[in-house]
Amino acid sequence: MYELACAYRDVLSEVDALERWFARLSDLGAACAGGAGTVPGSVLEFAAGPADHSLELARRGASVTALDLSPAMCVRARDKAQRDGLRLDVVHADMRDFTLPARFDLAITMLNSLCHLMELDDLVTHLKAAAAHIVPGGLYIIELAHPADFLTMVPRTSSEWDTDVDGRQVHVRWGGADDAIDPVTQVTREHVRVTVRDAAGSRTLTDVVPNRFWTRTEVTAAARLAGLSRAGAPANAGRPGRLGPVADHAGRSGSARAAAAVGTARLHRTGANLCGPASCRTGA
Ligand SMILES: C[S@@+](CC[C@H](N)C(=O)[O-])C[C@H]1O[C@@H](n2cnc3c(N)ncnc32)[C@H](O)[C@@H]1O
Repeated sequence: MYELACAYRDVLSEVDALERWFARLSDLGAACAGGAGTVPGSVLEFAAGPADHSLELARRGASVTALDLSPAMCVRARDKAQRDGLRLDVVHADMRDFTLPARFDLAITMLNSLCHLMELDDLVTHLKAAAAHIVPGGLYIIELAHPADFLTMVPRTSSEWDTDVDGRQVHVRWGGADDAIDPVTQVTREHVRVTVRDAAGSRTLTDVVPNRFWTRTEVTAAARLAGLSRAGAPANAGRPGRLGPVADHAGRSGSARAAAAVGTARLHRTGANLCGPASCRTGA
């Protein structure tokens, strides 16, 4: 159901954008851009879920580790890697508390998955753990929800969409006007409803998903606390329909850097997704 609900995403374009940002924003990427290409040598994806971005990066030649808290998601990611004949290391772990035997050129968290960290301490703890697993000169790209959807009266993106996936009609409602953000905790309890219709009939999944909205300032401050240099700031806040890297500030060379990509095509006012079927393009 999760994959059907998220089938609108253009994973190939999103991975293209990740590669471009890696080349542009990281010391490692800048060193190899124009030479061997911009595919990072090694990638760690947090909260990877079914790991579509990890799998695409593996397909392009990166050595990839996908980490997730859900055993079912880990099984799904492993199965997909096996099905596609790809090498993918899948780790069942909490992104706040893990130790891996390697460090990575690029770390990523897609689809606003940091929304599952509810408290500032959770975010700082995660970023410290992430920083310890990124090589000097590496980069951590975080895809975040666009603040306009939370901080303005009129959200820019829709919380409801339809897709056709291999003959199945999928209707998704993810949050919406009735799901108000708590102004103190910045948590929204998002009411999710996914309906799938196919030849066998119709089935519906409903759920309530807590979503913690993180501001740019919070993420930047937490990244600095965690020892990531050059924590970025949104560069494309006013350009809906694109994913964009955040502008980076000068920092010590040789240290890992954090950049947050703000999904301005976020279709769901209160959902975990950053872009949707009508406008899921990525650009740098
Ligand atoms: C909305 S899904 C997104 C999956 C994936 N990032 C994507 O782009 O499709 C959020 C994922 O975060 C995972 N997750 C939630 N809390 C986590 C934590 N503390 N550590 C690791 N994974 C976590 C969930 O198991 C789920 O697979």
